[in-house]
Amino acid sequence: MKIDGVPYRSVWVDETDRSTVRIFDQTRIPATLDILELRTRDQVADAIVTMQVRGAPLIGAVAAYGLALSLRVDASDDAMERDAAFLAATRPTAINLRWAIARMLEHLRPLDPSLRVQAAYEEAGRICDEDVAQNEAIGRHGLGLITQIAGAKTGDRKTVNILTHCNAGWIATVDWGTALAPIYMAHDAGIDVHVWVDETRPRNQGAALTAWELGRHGVRHTVVVDNAGGHLMQHGMVDLVIVGTDRVTRQGDVANKIGTYLKALAAADNNVPFWVALPSTTIDWTVRDGVAEIPIEERSEAEVTMVHGVDAHGNPASVRVTPAGSAAANPAFDVTPARLVTGLLTERGTCDATEAGLLSLFPEHA
Ligand code: MRU
Repeated sequence: MKIDGVPYRSVWVDETDRSTVRIFDQTRIPATLDILELRTRDQVADAIVTMQVRGAPLIGAVAAYGLALSLRVDASDDAMERDAAFLAATRPTAINLRWAIARMLEHLRPLDPSLRVQAAYEEAGRICDEDVAQNEAIGRHGLGLITQIAGAKTGDRKTVNILTHCNAGWIATVDWGTALAPIYMAHDAGIDVHVWVDETRPRNQGAALTAWELGRHGVRHTVVVDNAGGHLMQHGMVDLVIVGTDRVTRQGDVANKIGTYLKALAAADNNVPFWVALPSTTIDWTVRDGVAEIPIEERSEAEVTMVHGVDAHGNPASVRVTPAGSAAANPAFDVTPARLVTGLLTERGTCDATEAGLLSLFPEHA
C-alpha cells in the first residue's frame, strides 16, 4: 500500500543491508508511523510478543526473517532448531507463525550451514511475495462477492455496509490484507462501500488500525463499540460481515480475535452473510474441532484493566478503567464454529466452511 505516494509493505529488508528487518510499530499507530529496525532473533520475538508486529500472516513472515537473522549468528543444526522453536513459541494461536517456521526449516535443513543465511533470506522473501499474491487474489474473489451484493440492492440505498472485526488489513499481512482486500478493491472499482469498524477491545486494533487504514485509502467507515454489531444487524444496517482469521480447521471452524463468535451469532440470527477471508497458510489441516483443539492465547490482565491511547500531544497514555483489586481475564481469540460461517474466501476462490468445501479448493490435502 502507498504511504504519501510511496509503496510500502508491512515488512521489508533493504538488500544493501540485510542485517536489519524493518516493520511499522503497530503499537504507535495511529499516533505516529514509526519504523522499527529489528537486528536480532530476540528483537523479532519481542516485537511479536508485544504486538508491535501482529496479524497472522505478518507474524509468520517476520518470524521467517527472524530465523534468517539468527542464522547470521549461528547456522549450525542445533542453533537453527533452537531458534526456530523459540520464534514459533512467541504466539500460540495463529498457525501462520508455525507454518512459516516449518517451511523455513524444511528448506534449510538439507543445506550445508554455510549456505543457510542466503537461503533463509531468499525463502523469507518468497513467503512475503506469496502472501502478497494470495491476498490480492482474495481481494479479487471478494470483489465478486461485494459486486453481487451491490447489484442486488434496490432503490436509493446502494451503499454496501460491511462490518469487520479487529484488523485484517494490509498492516496485518505483507500487503493488501485479507478481509480488507476485497473492500479496497470494491472501493477502487467505484462501489459505494461503508465499513462498520468494531473497535476491538482490549487492544483496539479496529479503532486504531482498521480505521487508520481505511481512512488513508479514502474508504468511508464508522467506528463502533464491540457490542453495537447485533443492534446494527437487527436494523438492516449491515449487508455483509467479513473478518480475517488466525487459524481455520480442516472442517472450517474459525479462530479469530475475541468477539468474532458473537458477531457470527448475531449475523446468523439476522440472516446477514458472515464471510471469512484467509490465505491457505492459515488453514491447519491437522485439526478438526476448533473449540477443542485450537490453543487460545491468554494475554495480560493489564490490557483489560487499562485503556491505552494517546494524549493531546500524541504521546502514549493509559488510564485504569477497573477498580484496583478486580480480577480480569483476557482470552485474545475465540472460535466461530463452521456452521455459523457463510463461506470462506481464499486465494483459490470461495467455498463452504466444511471439509468438503476446503478440499474442493485444496485437493492436495485430501
Ligand atoms: O492479536 P492480533 O491483533 O494479532 O489478531 C489479529 C486478528 O485476529 C486478525 O483478524 C487475524 O490475524 C487475521 S489478519 C489478516
